Amino acid sequence: MEVRFVLNRTEVVLNVRPDEYLAETLRNQGVLSVHIGCNESNCGTCTVLINGKPSMSCSVLTAQVYGKTVTTVEDIQEEANKIADYFSDEGADQCGFCLVGFALVVHALALEYPNPTDEEIKNYLVGNLCRCSGYHAQMEAVKKYLAEVKKHAKK
Ligand code: FES
Ligand code: FES
Repeated sequence: MEVRFVLNRTEVVLNVRPDEYLAETLRNQGVLSVHIGCNESNCGTCTVLINGKPSMSCSVLTAQVYGKTVTTVEDIQEEANKIADYFSDEGADQCGFCLVGFALVVHALALEYPNPTDEEIKNYLVGNLCRCSGYHAQMEAVKKYLAEVKKHAKK
């Protein structure tokens, strides 16, 4: 079947199977930042933004994104690097497997909630598993990144 959507600001028209999931489609398109970990909506390594909202691409049928926008980390590379630096500064370096998902989620959080509460931050991060570096350090990194985003938004 034919599916048409905007991938990282470029319209694409693809032929996919009706039962094909977005993670597979994206990887077939060479978008290798989308990692498939658990393949059952539990880990967040396959996170992409669909119309700006974090979504697990392993559990979204490609047909469901018809007419929507899909953003992967390739489109927010500069921001993702900044976010990675904040994690690193807090001693919460993320591995290449989970960082992509975290970067997209934190980016979306910054756009949706200019002043999030701790609870809102936790709710946003809840789908992205990795507590290797300790939960507290991740929270601190996210808060410092958001403070920086806010500072720049005021200018
Ligand atoms: S691979 Fe999609 S949530 Fe784990
Ligand atoms: S899974 Fe990536 S740092 Fe823990």
